[in-house]
Amino acid sequence: MDDGFTRREMIGASAVALTLARRSVEASAAVADAPAPRRRERIERWRFHLGHAADVEKDFGFGRDQRTFAKAGQSADAAMPKFDDSGWAQVLVPHDWAVALPFAQGPEVKGSDRGAAHGFKAIGRDFPQNSIGWYRAPIAVTAADRGRAIWLEFDGVFRDCLLFVNGYAVGRNESGYAPFRVDIGDFLDYDGGPNVITVRVDATLGEGWFYEGAGIYRHVELVSADPVHIPQWGTVVRSEVGADGATLNIATDVLNGSDAPVEAMLRLVVLDPADRATEFIEPMSINLPAGERRTIDRQVHLPAPRLWSLDKPDLYAIRSELYVGERQVDETRTRFGVRSIRFDAQRGFFLNGKAVKLLGTCNHQDHAGVGTGIPDTLHRWRVAQLQEMGSNAWRSAHNPPATALLDACDEMGMLMIVELRCNSSDRESVSQLERIVRRDRNHPSVILWSLGNEEPHQATARGARINAELARHVKRLDPTRPTTFAMDQGWDKGVGRVVDVLGFNYRTNQIEAYHGRHPQQPVYGSETGSTVATRGEYANDPARHIVRAYDTEHPWWATTAEEWWTIVADRPYIAGGFVWTGFDYRGEPTPFDTLPSISSQFGILDTCGFPKDNYYYYRAWWRPDEPLVHLLPHWNWPGREGQPVEVWAHGNTEEVELRLNGRSLGRKPMPRNRHLEWRVPYAPGKLEAIGYKGGRAAARAVRETSGPAHSVRLMVDRRMAKAGELVIANAVILDARGRPVPTADNLLRFGATGGEVIGVGNGNPNSLEPDIATQRHSFNGLAQAIVRAGRGPIDVSVASDGLSGARVRIVAL
Ligand code: GAL
Repeated sequence: MDDGFTRREMIGASAVALTLARRSVEASAAVADAPAPRRRERIERWRFHLGHAADVEKDFGFGRDQRTFAKAGQSADAAMPKFDDSGWAQVLVPHDWAVALPFAQGPEVKGSDRGAAHGFKAIGRDFPQNSIGWYRAPIAVTAADRGRAIWLEFDGVFRDCLLFVNGYAVGRNESGYAPFRVDIGDFLDYDGGPNVITVRVDATLGEGWFYEGAGIYRHVELVSADPVHIPQWGTVVRSEVGADGATLNIATDVLNGSDAPVEAMLRLVVLDPADRATEFIEPMSINLPAGERRTIDRQVHLPAPRLWSLDKPDLYAIRSELYVGERQVDETRTRFGVRSIRFDAQRGFFLNGKAVKLLGTCNHQDHAGVGTGIPDTLHRWRVAQLQEMGSNAWRSAHNPPATALLDACDEMGMLMIVELRCNSSDRESVSQLERIVRRDRNHPSVILWSLGNEEPHQATARGARINAELARHVKRLDPTRPTTFAMDQGWDKGVGRVVDVLGFNYRTNQIEAYHGRHPQQPVYGSETGSTVATRGEYANDPARHIVRAYDTEHPWWATTAEEWWTIVADRPYIAGGFVWTGFDYRGEPTPFDTLPSISSQFGILDTCGFPKDNYYYYRAWWRPDEPLVHLLPHWNWPGREGQPVEVWAHGNTEEVELRLNGRSLGRKPMPRNRHLEWRVPYAPGKLEAIGYKGGRAAARAVRETSGPAHSVRLMVDRRMAKAGELVIANAVILDARGRPVPTADNLLRFGATGGEVIGVGNGNPNSLEPDIATQRHSFNGLAQAIVRAGRGPIDVSVASDGLSGARVRIVAL
């Protein structure tokens, strides 16, 4: 971190500031090892045990004889600091315990989906033994912490959790998605006693109609600060970009949590994308009575800011320093981006004055192997897969995302729609809204606040009333971004009249008429598509819950990729579209809603992030300048010699020629935003597509009949990893000549010497194999292991009976 002061700072600073500046430099030199004004520590290591929703003894005494809340500090056995948790499992947060549960069908009750919504995991009302989770973690407290403000920040716990500190019940949070903060200083032992935090998580009830996981599935941080400090989310930076640079409006909250008035001094430093202090804002002194909180507004002009954009997502930060007298009492860092956004009803979305079509996907928050407990590097990996396809926008459906995902979007240049979970104006829902907007409003990736999705009241006067109230709260907290709502009917009424930018779920062909009736309101496809497809399968087989991966199958309310994109691509007034979905997700199994189907088949990529064929349709037209052809199906059809096979090419070159075993089957022009088809009598060998641009071959795709499985190749996303980072290891089954075997289902055993295989997957929506394992059958030739790096090098390996295995070395960073 930068501790020096630039010439510009010195010149611009007042005398007071100069004195302060010098003092702080001197002070840091003199007492280099003095405690930082603020301490922030991520709590990653926890002990975990299932409790019981219906049995007090199995729930560690929670609720015994009505006594949990009867006497302060004596709540439940497992909440007491000296409770022996040595027999509990050691887990790392983010953690989802539901992903490790067995699959089971709930009892037959009228109107119930028997657990389909959450992917048939044995959790919920019918499984009280699996629906409560207890977490315990010791925290380090010293005598020097006495009198400080100490709190915990939770980014998200699924769900309804009670927080205990040393046996005291100190906080409760209902929402499975909203962040929350709890003060804990009063309950700690500063004299060397054990200090333990305990969280009882109750996932008996869900909040959605999709897999939601269970547990502390996002980060937890312990913060210790001086009583005079900048509270959580206390800095808001809004940038106004103009012809002569950008003006930053910086609002900083300062809290005097001490019991005496103080005269504090706030000093703000702008750090540029290279982390250099570039602008110094004249310090300001604040007289704060005991217990008061005040917002300080400052402005600074950046003459030549580096704008945050999709190609160059440059990030600035504000370093906020707070002094009382000569003592620096607090320092925080708030990241932000300088950029302008606007929605235009005729011309769509603009970033920094340039029209950008929103090439989006909707996504839930689970992945193979880990469920909703997604480590930071996996968030980044998922963003990267979508960017590779050409996507530039993500709708976090239907809940606010993890901060780690927003950070990834900020750093990688992905736009984001943040959606609320509760579309209501009751006190709890508004409190969730407040926390979400306060947490997320500095993220440059966020472009819209989505108030809700397809609520039953969407087209009613009551819906309009509720959402007008929510919109009012959003504007109060963030006047810089529009509101939106994802509607699937009644757009002319209700909520459609209240939000700034209107979302169409499916029914993309109705946008035009709506735009004619409401030419002043920006519109986009909030859910588009959606083709259902099983990766690597090319014939519908309802008995096996398999859907062909051509772009033809979709539920009645939806469309193919081609149908929606051809509408949106050529209409500038439609800001873009968000495909339902980027990745397959657990739960809401569609189009087959009974076991063994446990996940949806809507994804452009499967639950592991392996692309299905439609991925190449989007990639072709979302990255039109990069020549591409892709062929489907695979070319392993023994027994079907001479029979016609439906062959498709996705691609973006002007023409595509198809060849079978060297013989041309014709060359056809590729219609814009569409695909090509042939019927080819099957003969084993090599099927080849050549894409021509300006008469020259510019892209090529090959599908070759393979021999039997012979070896496994490991493809890793990185060759170097820091401790705690993930390595995504994809296994591909090959024949003796190194060609992929597109139908292979061999059992693979993964290893990670020096690291840990934390989960596995294969993208099969009908697989009931465990995720928390080190082995997995490949599905249509592919499987994935998620490996957590240790401190040294890791040898990731894969082995399979009868096949030659593979080993890859990952170097420690
Ligand atoms: C939409 C809904 C999504 C998902 C989808 C399935 O109506 O918003 O959450 O259920 O349908 O097609």
